[in-house]
Amino acid sequence: MKKRVFSGIQPTGILHIGNYMGAIKNWVSLIDSHDCIFCIVDLHAITVPYEPGDMQARIHDTAVGYIASGVDPARCTIFVQSDVPEHAELTWYFNTVIPVAYLERMTQFKDKSAQFHENITMGLLDYPVLQAADILLYKADVVPVGEDQAQHLELTRDIARKFNNMYGSTFPEPRTLIGSAARVVGLDGQAKMSKTLNNYIAITETPEEIGKKLSVAMTDPARKRRSDSGNPDICNIYMLHTLFTPGGQQRSVAAGCRSAGVGCLDCKKILAEAISTELKPIRERYEKIKNDRDLIRSVLDQGAQRCRAMAQETIREVKGKMGLLR
Ligand code: TRP
Repeated sequence: MKKRVFSGIQPTGILHIGNYMGAIKNWVSLIDSHDCIFCIVDLHAITVPYEPGDMQARIHDTAVGYIASGVDPARCTIFVQSDVPEHAELTWYFNTVIPVAYLERMTQFKDKSAQFHENITMGLLDYPVLQAADILLYKADVVPVGEDQAQHLELTRDIARKFNNMYGSTFPEPRTLIGSAARVVGLDGQAKMSKTLNNYIAITETPEEIGKKLSVAMTDPARKRRSDSGNPDICNIYMLHTLFTPGGQQRSVAAGCRSAGVGCLDCKKILAEAISTELKPIRERYEKIKNDRDLIRSVLDQGAQRCRAMAQETIREVKGKMGLLR
């Protein structure tokens, strides 16, 4: 039997190269060796203010982005979290085993509650418990994520352990699998690449758009003039080279930056080309399927159907152990 993989991304709309390099590329590499389930986590997305009228379009775009990036629905399962109500149900059972104090010290909760300080909801505090329910509902063995999710996975194992201690062995403790590009810095050189910070390159952008965005992107701030030598090790643009540019070219860019032989503009041109090359097949697939509503609907419906059957089985087991089954 293949080991089971579970992971998810919030439906932020179009995916960016941070999602792709940080998570999805890693997912694709697991598809044939594992039983993979990939979720679009809309219930997580509503824990901060959002526009309800945009949600379905965001879900559609995310699904198209998964498939275009190589998450082939013929070889894995793709579904929308809210199509399987058992996620919310298992969250409630887990709420009765996890101390509040564990949730209050989650760094993502602390960051987000500072950002949305006017309305810190129960949903925001409970976010990691819902994530644990996502994973444990399917008894996943491996969870490929970016490094910012490591703490949530730690908590998932805590919840599994606590539940098992209280009600008898039920859940395996899933392993965190952090990819090699676990944190992709945004074009501002400051924060993780994200849709909301508008410091991203989308997987669908054309070579022209990529060139334009890169031309105004932050570089090593100490390199003010063309004749200054730069430090690739601290430059966010060079970090992107390490992800997209072939080895030999990558080394000559680094050496050129240090010796001031290669200016930031030349360096960015090389990068724009490397990114465009990698994204070309993704962009083409995206264009081909983006308006195929029937295809996306049928992929998500089939995914939900398979997941619901598995989820109901786990819920039945959990209710039985908790004394909730007549
Ligand atoms: N919290 C994750 C993120 O922001 C998304 C997520 C939700 C997830 N549920 C999950 C990731 C389950 C892995 C497994 O990236």
